[in-house]
Amino acid sequence: MRVLLVTGKGGVGKTTVSAATALASADAGYRTLVTSTDPAHSLADAFDFTLGDTPSDIVANLAGQQIDGQRQLTKHWGQINDQLKAVFNWGGVTGIEAEEFLVFPGMDELFSLLEVNDHVRSGLYDVIVVDCAPTAETLRLLSLPEVLSWYFERVMPTERRLMRAARPVLERVTKLPMPSEALFEAADNIFANIESVRALLGDSSVTTARLVINPEKMVVNEARRTYSYLSLFGYAVDAVIVNRVLPDTIDDPYFKEWHKVQARHLATIDESFPDTQRLRLRLFGEEMVGIEKLRVLGAELFGDLDPVASFESRPPFVVSEEGTDVVMTLTVGYADEGELDVLRHGDELYVTVGPYRRSFILPDSLRRRVVSGAKLSGVELKVRFSPDQGTA
Ligand SMILES: Nc1ncnc2c1ncn2[C@@H]1O[C@H](COP(=O)(O)OP(=O)(O)OP(=O)(O)O)[C@@H](O)[C@H]1O
Ligand SMILES: [Mg+2]
Repeated sequence: MRVLLVTGKGGVGKTTVSAATALASADAGYRTLVTSTDPAHSLADAFDFTLGDTPSDIVANLAGQQIDGQRQLTKHWGQINDQLKAVFNWGGVTGIEAEEFLVFPGMDELFSLLEVNDHVRSGLYDVIVVDCAPTAETLRLLSLPEVLSWYFERVMPTERRLMRAARPVLERVTKLPMPSEALFEAADNIFANIESVRALLGDSSVTTARLVINPEKMVVNEARRTYSYLSLFGYAVDAVIVNRVLPDTIDDPYFKEWHKVQARHLATIDESFPDTQRLRLRLFGEEMVGIEKLRVLGAELFGDLDPVASFESRPPFVVSEEGTDVVMTLTVGYADEGELDVLRHGDELYVTVGPYRRSFILPDSLRRRVVSGAKLSGVELKVRFSPDQGTA
């Protein structure tokens, strides 16, 4: 089973690459599904083929789907939504305003990922290619399960106990609609689903992300950042696809400067992703829409490579022993020393790069130790754990 997440900045060619990858995968004999969690769907346009909320056959071995995020939202969030709405209404927030509070941005995409999980479990496909929303959204989305799981594990059980005791009294005194036991059950259910998606996406033997970029300054910078964050969250990036590269055969003076600019960025790309498979795709002379053109594009992109092979070369972190110390090495990709923060709290290690954070539950061997240092060297962060002198 393979799940490929195709992501990158807006307009870089994610949908085109997703479609071409899926087609190449199907042509290679894998039962393939290409699906899109980006609410602004354009897979159907790329294939020039009508696609709906349920998978439909495009060619042999290939089905396509554009998930209806709203339907997913109603399916998973409906009950909780109704309960919370009652609370908002009690507080004087009604109508559209309440609706806006109840659904946070990215939620429909999150629930679309639950659908991807269902497809994985169905056993109907060997490969699932996911055309994701642009970088920022995808990242927030991917970190969401961890944030939610933290919340559910820490806050919910307490709330629930309190609620059981306080509900009768509070309801009488305040007329505030109290969350019912059923609400907690619905929330538990969502949490279990999200947890299982997180496990699926975090399992690099199944899921890898492919970053689509263009040789342009801002795109490259954002991709370097995305790479850090994905690594930080423990998601494997197995390929960087450099799209819209000007072919060397162009000698038109109009493009001469562009050629030089691209050459510079291509060099930066090689330096930024030394451990990751880089695949180049030229800028074609026309829009690459429709099955036949996507085939041509896929053939140029992958050449003799298996389009769905995992090109991943390094796991997100490794643990090694140095004397009596244990060193945890995290591949955080590109990061500035100034943007980094490492904090130990009980069983958990919090690592921050810029505005993003991730918490690791420490393995037993590390839990008994204290963090004695953290050092960024190149794209690696080494967190040193020393024996705790206070205990035996
Ligand atoms: N290498 C290429 N050569 C020529 N045209 C291309 C190439 N790559 C993509 N295109 C065209 O560029 C346009 C945008 O590509 P695409 O829709 O795949 O980008 P995207 O990253 O999915 O955009 P969005 O962020 O809006 O979802 C499409 O019309 C596509 O056909
Ligand atoms: Mg797109």
